[in-house]
Amino acid sequence: MVDIELKEVTRESWPEVMNLALKLEQGGLVAPNFYRVREFKAEPEFVQLAIFNGEEVVGFAMYGRDPDDGKYWIFRLMIDVDHQRQGFGKAALVKLIELMSKIPGCDEIYVGYRPENFVAHALHLSLGFQRTGQMLQGEYIAMLDLRSGNK
Ligand SMILES: CC(C)(COP(=O)(O)OP(=O)(O)OC[C@H]1O[C@@H](n2cnc3c(N)ncnc32)[C@H](O)[C@@H]1OP(=O)(O)O)[C@@H](O)C(=O)NCCC(=O)NCCS
Repeated sequence: MVDIELKEVTRESWPEVMNLALKLEQGGLVAPNFYRVREFKAEPEFVQLAIFNGEEVVGFAMYGRDPDDGKYWIFRLMIDVDHQRQGFGKAALVKLIELMSKIPGCDEIYVGYRPENFVAHALHLSLGFQRTGQMLQGEYIAMLDLRSGNK
């Protein structure tokens, strides 16, 4: 597996995070980072991570406990258009799961993605997520149960 590091977004790395781009056809798959991190620590209750390959920021992820439902969500996982299909997305998701499984009380990880986002669907299923059958705001919801040997 490729070697990546997840590091909390800092004042130094956030301009790089803001410059990460998606393919045109992926533009509607997730909200642009601009809306998420246009202000440093715009959402301090969630953990915002820059995905590094060596010195270079290649992606962005954000997770945390949603105060509305009390569940732990991966709100965001994206890899820059020029760095996709090199294993970074999968490696980042593996590390996110590792990180989140250490949070006391986090027994389930939730994620949402658009029905047409077959790459996200296959990626999450390959790491043990299962669809809950729920849809929220037009997105399929999938959950990883950390109690069933994934922790
Ligand atoms: C989903 C995303 C993070 C995957 O990142 P990535 O670095 O390209 O993914 P990887 O290289 O690790 O590939 C993961 C798997 O998806 C497959 N894959 C990736 N892009 C693909 C594509 N365009 N078409 C078909 N398969 C694709 C890979 O072959 C790999 O499959 P494998 O595990 O069977 O080998 C990236 O496509 C992205 O940023 N998409 C837009 C944002 C998004 O949809 N985020 C998820 C919503 S939560």
